[in-house]
Order: sequence, then C-alpha cells, then structure tokens
Amino acid sequence: MDTIVADELKMPRLPRSTHDYVALEALYGATNYKPLDVVLSRGQGVWVWDVDGAKYLDCLSAYSAVNQGHCHPRILAAMMEQAQKLTLTSRAFRNDQLALFYEEICAATNTHKVLPMNSGAEAVESALKLARKWGYEVKGVPEGQAEIIVCSENFHGRTLTIVGFSTDPVSQRNFGPFTPGFRVIPYGDADAFEAAVTAHTVAILLEPIQGEAGVIIPPDGYLRRVRDICTRRRVVMILDEVQTGLGRTGKLLAEEHEGVEADLTLVGKALSGGFYPISAVLSNIEVMDVLKPGEHGSTFGGNPLGCAVARMALRVLQDEGMIENAAVMGERMKAGLAAIPSNRVREVRGRGLMLAVELHPDAGGARDYVRRLQSLGVLCKDTHEHSIRIAPPLVITGDEVDWAVDRFAQALREA
Ligand SMILES: Cc1ncc(COP(=O)(O)O)c(C=O)c1O
Repeated sequence: MDTIVADELKMPRLPRSTHDYVALEALYGATNYKPLDVVLSRGQGVWVWDVDGAKYLDCLSAYSAVNQGHCHPRILAAMMEQAQKLTLTSRAFRNDQLALFYEEICAATNTHKVLPMNSGAEAVESALKLARKWGYEVKGVPEGQAEIIVCSENFHGRTLTIVGFSTDPVSQRNFGPFTPGFRVIPYGDADAFEAAVTAHTVAILLEPIQGEAGVIIPPDGYLRRVRDICTRRRVVMILDEVQTGLGRTGKLLAEEHEGVEADLTLVGKALSGGFYPISAVLSNIEVMDVLKPGEHGSTFGGNPLGCAVARMALRVLQDEGMIENAAVMGERMKAGLAAIPSNRVREVRGRGLMLAVELHPDAGGARDYVRRLQSLGVLCKDTHEHSIRIAPPLVITGDEVDWAVDRFAQALREA
C-alpha cells in the first residue's frame, strides 16, 4: 500500500503486537466471532503473515472466498484500474461492466439470466423471493401458501429468514419470531424430499456439499434424484454454491459432479477473488423473468467495481488452471491426510480442496488441534467440536500440500 494512504489509516496510538490488537478488538468489537489469536497483516497466494512476522499456510481461504489466492495480481490490477474509473452508479443508471459480467458468467456456467447481489446471504434471500413469486405467478400456488423445503444442518447465511430455518440452536436462539413457510427434511435423503413435496411446494434449497456442517457429502446420485423430483413435481431446485462453487470442489460448480443443472444456482464468496464482495443468483429464464422493475434490488448490486473484480476473478480461475489444480491437489491432500498413521482420526473426507478431518470423539476437541497447527504454521478451522476443515486456496502446489500434510501429522502425533 502507498505509504501516504497507510499513514492516514494509522490510529494516533498504533497497536503493535498481537496482544494489543486482540485487546483492542475485545474492548470495542462485537463478540460474534471467536477467532484464533493470530492478527494477519499480509497475504500472497496461499501464504499469510501476522503482525509479528510469522508466516502461515492459509488452509481456510476466508471460508473459500480466496480461492484464487491472496492478493492475486491480475485481480488486484483489475480492481485498481476500475477503482480509478468508476466505482458505483446504482442501478438507476447502467454501467459498462455489468453487461460484460453477465455475458461472461453466463458463458462460464451455462446460465441464462443473472441477478447480481453483494453477499451470499443476499443471494439466498433473493432466490427465496424469486421462488415464491414463481410459485404464485407461474405454478399457481394460492397466495400466502408457498412452502420451501430446506435440509437439516443447512447453512445459508445469517439473516432472520435464513436462521429461521436453521437446525443449529445457536444460530436461532432468541432471534425469533421467524419467517413462516419453510419445512426441514434430512439432508441426503431424496425419498424424504419426494415425500415432503405438496401442491404448495415451490422450491427446495440445498448445498451440494454441506460446508459449515463439516463437509458433509451426500450419497452419489442424490442431486440427480432431487433434480428429477423437482422436474416432475414442478419445484424450483435452488443450489447454494456460495461455498462449493467457483472451483473449490475441482469443478467450476459442484453440481457438475452429478451432471445436473439447478434452476437457481447461488454463487458468492470467490466471485470476489477475496477483494470486493459480490454474489449472484444464476437462473433459468422462466424463474428470473417473474421479477419486474421495482420488486427487488440493492444499491451496490451490480456495481462496476464489483463486476470488474468478478470478471477477472472468474477469468483467472479458468485460464490459470485453478479448477483442475483443485481436483489434483485435493486428491493428493486427501490421500496424504488419510495416510497419517493416527488412531485419533475417524475419517478424512472431501471433494477437491474442500476437505475435513474428523477426529474420534475421545481424541480431544478440534480447537486444540487447530491451535497446535497454528503454532506449526498452518491456519485452519475447527467445526462442530470434532472436525477440522481444510480449504487452502486453489493455487496450492504439490510441495505445499505435502508440507501441510506433514504439519497435520505432527499435530496429531503431539496432541
Ligand atoms: C453455503 C453458504 N451459503 C451462504 C453463505 C453466506 O454467505 P455470506 O457470509 O457472504 O452472507 C455461506 C457462508 O459461509 C455459505 O457457506
């Protein structure tokens, strides 16, 4: 960063050590997260550095928002160039990036229509609104009766409507009352879905792999069966690919593993390249066309800066071989982790570079292992007490994978 800009951002009394930053955060910040005490100040590719100069391999990628690696130079250049030209127009006027973003993301994902938003949760909310409107106006569901089916252990974001159909008590407690019209079925069970569909069902919302739940992969053929039921029973299939999408699982979209196309596919996170939040609802024509001017929108949705960043974020994923690399490195990492001789590991699972190590319940909490890994130079995330999620940027090399696997082996040995 330019030193003049950096100086302007400095506080009068600049905190310097990890301890200072942690104390300051505790003093002024909302306590809705419980991060590791590592204060990062620089990132490049798969590596990040903290304020004390220690270097770490990032095995979380900001929950898969940094698939392209930290501070990717081509995305950075696109952002800098656009930031000097035009950043925001609102949708009251047009801008010269939005149409190109539409064209490029449609070509890449075989999509017909795009609705740009900012965060993953907003993409989910937008899809739910679209599905309900389609249900009333096209399927003919009586007004106010639309039902949307969701899955147990889902994670789709943090808005009131979304947490209202969460099955995680912590996400819900004391946030009610919630939006009605949702029905929860077990994840991975296509028969349960078929049985739950009624004449008022307008949509099913699900993740191709449940990320926050701990990288839960449904049985083979599940998405194909859901697709088939949706087609037969006239139900909109909404796939939340906010985390699985954009290369993470070794395909551009995880739905490709089963050769299905959802009616609405939601992407976010890595569409930003880790730079500037942008999300999108990718839709077929029939569903998206229910939306008319004034019925939905966002001040920042479709802004030229976000679109320019997203265009380059998509391009580098494709033309730098990151998606293929995710498939190859994912297999290498999964095999490496599975080969660690440790009776503390119950299962290693995942697809592409979306991986999890599940510990035996009596092996101690995952948080302890994550802290140990931090001390060995690897940053990853504990989930649900006994799982460790591993999702490095898709630019990771074979040597880096092997190095990380050695650190896991050491952490498991020393625990
Ligand atoms: C599958 C899925 N959907 C939606 C979201 C919400 O995205 P955001 O945090 O950008 O609102 C997430 C975030 O982790 C996610 O994993």
